[in-house]
This record gives sequence, structure tokens and C-alpha cells, in this order.
Amino acid sequence: KKRIVSGVQPTGSIHLGNYLGAIKNWIALQNTYETLFFIVDLHAITLPYDTQQLSKATRDTAALYLACGVDTSKASVFVQSHVRAHVELMWLLSSATPIGWLNRMIQFKEKSRKAGDENVGVALLTYPVLMASDILLYQSDFVPVGEDQKQHLELTRELAERVNYLFGGRKWKKLGGRGGAIFKVPEPLIPPAGARVMSLTDGFSKMSKSAPSDQSRINLLDPKDVLANKIKRCKTDSFPGLITGKTKQEVAEECQDMNWGTFKNVLTDALVDHLHPIQVRYEEIMSDPAYVDNVLAEGASKASAIADITLNDVYQAMGFLRR
Ligand code: TYM
Repeated sequence: KKRIVSGVQPTGSIHLGNYLGAIKNWIALQNTYETLFFIVDLHAITLPYDTQQLSKATRDTAALYLACGVDTSKASVFVQSHVRAHVELMWLLSSATPIGWLNRMIQFKEKSRKAGDENVGVALLTYPVLMASDILLYQSDFVPVGEDQKQHLELTRELAERVNYLFGGRKWKKLGGRGGAIFKVPEPLIPPAGARVMSLTDGFSKMSKSAPSDQSRINLLDPKDVLANKIKRCKTDSFPGLITGKTKQEVAEECQDMNWGTFKNVLTDALVDHLHPIQVRYEEIMSDPAYVDNVLAEGASKASAIADITLNDVYQAMGFLRR
């Protein structure tokens, strides 16, 4: 079976962009592929964050994965920091990553420009190396993400090729390894629709967890009245009616004669119909936090078993003395 990995940061609440750009596709893919879905808590500390909230947000995010339909009989769900190999591989990979590649990352440029060099931790720069190790550790074939992660995926691919070239093949064989490629070169899976869900209040920005105004996004856990109010007030017309499962054309035909107000009501109802069952399941799951923790423990041990194999290969190929 081909393997798929993906993850979301436990920062703020998960919104419709995360769902349509990534999580909704995970659910469809878990039947066909071997899947590992993680909560990337180590990525969440790359900007100032609240230590009192991190562990709660991590468990909440895991519960939301399950509520959205991630099926633990098929997928492994785990917390990034529970599998130590992620950080270890990151260090090894960072030695092979040119700084220029990282300086060119759009997300780094945008976020560091806002905060200023003296206020930005080095981890914000090296963040894509950690993301590469999340992916390469599992010899992943595909990575389902939204459009905003495309550049990070491109870097991951280039890094995999570079490490294969620098340390793989015959050199690795001479060190007692199996030779050949150390890493599989993964491909992004970006959905044809929903890859870039826009902000509700600003038609030029994507919907984002870190935008200061909660009015700019629809959170998966927004109650009906909050959601209805956000849609009523939203100005953007680029908001996609993807949630009904109908084609764009069907939606367009149904809605062509509607005025804005009626259309917004239809959209609100469609969203509520889709999100309500997720919210109910979420409450059920969260009523038993020990259940979530068990899922995460099991996920971490399955993931570690795979990750350790790759990590050992990399140490060997890079010439380390092993104990
Ligand atoms: P994060 O937490 O910012 O976003 C999680 C997922 O949601 C997608 N996404 C969107 N899709 C459509 N429209 C939007 N407005 C929107 N906003 C976010 C993102 O593309 C992503 O798929 N670095 C990653 C997390 C990560 C990761 C990984 C992903 C770390 N390691 C390994 C895949 C594989 C991030 O910060 O995503």
C-alpha cells in the first residue's frame, strides 16, 4: 500500500480552510492508502504561544480529527513530539539544507517581516526542515495539503533528492547499508477545490488560524448562530459552496436566481448540516479524554516503529558510529 502522511498545527481552532484543504481529503484517502495523521505540536512553538494552552489544543485537535471521520482502525493518529525521530532527523537534514532555500520560503518571509528579525526564533526559519522530516521519516508517497504548503512540499522533495545524492547509493552501500535511495521523494496532493479557502472579511487573504479577527473564519466548532452571523456579515464572494457534495455547476444552477441574502441562507444551512454531526461527535469523544490519549499512544508506537527504521538508515548513511 502506498503511504500518506499529513498534519495540522494545534494553534487556535481548526477552520473550514484546514478542513476543505486537508482533513476532508484524509478521510477519503484512508480507505485506499496506509495513512498517518499527526498533530504538529513542535511546529506550533515557532511563533509566540501560550504554554497553558498547548497540551489542551493538541488533544482537542486529535479529537477533531476523529470527529471529522479519521478512523483509527485504518489510520495512525499521533502527536509529533511523541515520536522523537522527527526532531532527530530534522537535525541531520538541516546539515544538508542550504540556508538560501529556507530564506526563500514565502511563509517565513511573511511571518518574519511582520515580527522583525530580533523577535523571530530560528525555528521559524528551520520549520520547513522539520516538516520535511515529518514526511521523509515515513517514506511517504503522497501528502494531502492545501495550496499554502506547496512550497514546503517542493523543498521537501528537493531535500530528499539532495540527501539521496549526497549520502545514498554506492557510498551508503560501502558503509554496510542497502544502497539506493535513502528517501522516497513524496508528492503533494492538493485538492482541485478547497485548496485555498479565503478569509470571510478580506477576499485577498486565505482563511487563517492566526488572523486576529474570529469573524474572518468559520471554525469547525462554531455553533449555528455564530456561523449564521459570520456568513451574514461576510463580504467575500469567493467563498466556495463545496460542503454539500454537489458539483459547482449544480450549485450554480440552483443558486443562479437567488439574491445574496437567500444564497447566504442556503450556504448557512449547508454548513450547519455538514458541521453539526462533527460537533456532536467531537463532544462525545471529548467526554472521554483518556480515550483520545490511548489513541495517541497507540498511534505513536506504530509511527515510531516506522520512523526508527528510516532514522537508523540516515545515521548509517551519514557515517555515524552506532552504539
Ligand atoms: P496548518 O496547520 O497551517 O494547516 C493545516 C492544513 O490546512 C491547510 N490550510 C488550508 N487549506 C485551504 N485553505 C486555507 N485557507 C487553508 N489554511 C490552511 C494547510 O495547507 C494544511 O494542509 N506546516 C503545516 C503542517 C505540517 C505538515 C507536515 C503538513 C507540518 N508537518 C507534514 C503535512 C505534512 C501547517 O502549518 O499547516
